[in-house]
Amino acid sequence: MGEKKIVSRNFNRIKPDSINDYLEVGGYEALKKARSMKREEVVEEILKSGLRGRGGGGFPTGRKWKLVLQEGGKEKFVIVNGDEGEPGAFKDREILEKNPHLLVEGAFIAAYAVGAEKIFFYIRGEYPFAQKLLKKAVVDAGDYSNGIKIEIRSGAGSYICGEETALLESIEGKRGHPRVKPPFPTKKGLWERPTLVNNAETLATVPEIVLEGGEWYSEIGNGEWKGTQLLSVNGAVEKPGVYEFEFGTSAEEVIETAGGVREEMGLKAVAPGASSPLVPARELSKKIEEIGGSGAFIVLSEEESIPEFCKSVAEFFFKESCGKCVPCRLGVMRLLEFAEKRCESGLNEIDFQDFLELSRVMEATSLCGLGKSACVLMKSALELFKEEFLRS
Ligand SMILES: Cc1cc2nc3c(=O)[nH]c(=O)nc-3n(C[C@H](O)[C@H](O)[C@H](O)COP(=O)(O)O)c2cc1C
Ligand code: SF4
Repeated sequence: MGEKKIVSRNFNRIKPDSINDYLEVGGYEALKKARSMKREEVVEEILKSGLRGRGGGGFPTGRKWKLVLQEGGKEKFVIVNGDEGEPGAFKDREILEKNPHLLVEGAFIAAYAVGAEKIFFYIRGEYPFAQKLLKKAVVDAGDYSNGIKIEIRSGAGSYICGEETALLESIEGKRGHPRVKPPFPTKKGLWERPTLVNNAETLATVPEIVLEGGEWYSEIGNGEWKGTQLLSVNGAVEKPGVYEFEFGTSAEEVIETAGGVREEMGLKAVAPGASSPLVPARELSKKIEEIGGSGAFIVLSEEESIPEFCKSVAEFFFKESCGKCVPCRLGVMRLLEFAEKRCESGLNEIDFQDFLELSRVMEATSLCGLGKSACVLMKSALELFKEEFLRS
């Protein structure tokens, strides 16, 4: 296993602002092919491919498309989730900045397959250059729209607006608070209409699947995880950047591909963002699909203080919790207290037990994924690096 370029195949080979360059490498052929098929047939190819969402949840993409298609002839929407707020993740930005037409084509195919008449691109506000390229790509691709309308919306700096139902609220012009699920967006999404929400990378994978066939894609990857994943490798590596790996690749191979750990630095752990457990140096044989997360791969050197890192993660959740539900609104305060207390005086056994209780309650009772996962990284840090947290 190792690096394999499907989504990133034409990165740095074509100019991102040139539709002619995109057309020269076979751009919009997949869309033509899809439109020559029945909607059901397109969905069937995606089902066959085994593609799963790259936004963090890993939901089977074909199943989601089928649910929206089955909603019949109602008004429907497609949302491209390019909010990318996970700390250390910048792989969706890479797609937008290196090949925006690939994403536009993937979104057009999705809209055709599920029978939607409008696409919303929801792009992180901190990505102005990506937004500019996307705007140009959308205008230049006008001839391929077949009447499908497109609107580009900019996020306003809030992590929670990447959560699909908070995102719906945001597009509707309301405060970005998650909705209670069910109903799921596939049934009642934007303005209560069936809505397909997919991550940008998920949709950027679609054109190649349509061209080559679902079966071709399903033979790439490892076990339940088909295909490839883009990872934003950063931190203490020689060559930080976005790389694409086949599922089945180990963390060790990822680090090697990014030039290895920076000179004279030992490796302590890998953090797949702020919402997933740490991977310690002794577990680098773990595969990328076991590590999870939404594309962030932060390499922490031995010089890094794990409690300090946890504190920055706790500050992040404290700042980003939307406050709609009690377990998370109060829980993130407790989480931050824990992380800060250690930095001043170290934790004792009672603190550890209290933390486990906090983590259990937040995971079980928070309304959305933010609260459910806010303690996950710190919990793994306490298990793996307990000595760094002890009262000295
Ligand atoms: C707090 C929070 C933030 C999220 N942020 C993003 C995001 O920035 N981009 C994204 O694609 N999905 C994000 N998600 C996941 C979305 O809710 C949703 O599952 C995803 O967009 C579905 O697309 P997929 O099936 O293609 O992965 C977030 C989830 C949570 C709980
Ligand atoms: S879990 Fe946190 S972010 Fe999610 S709805 Fe509750 S308060 Fe808001």
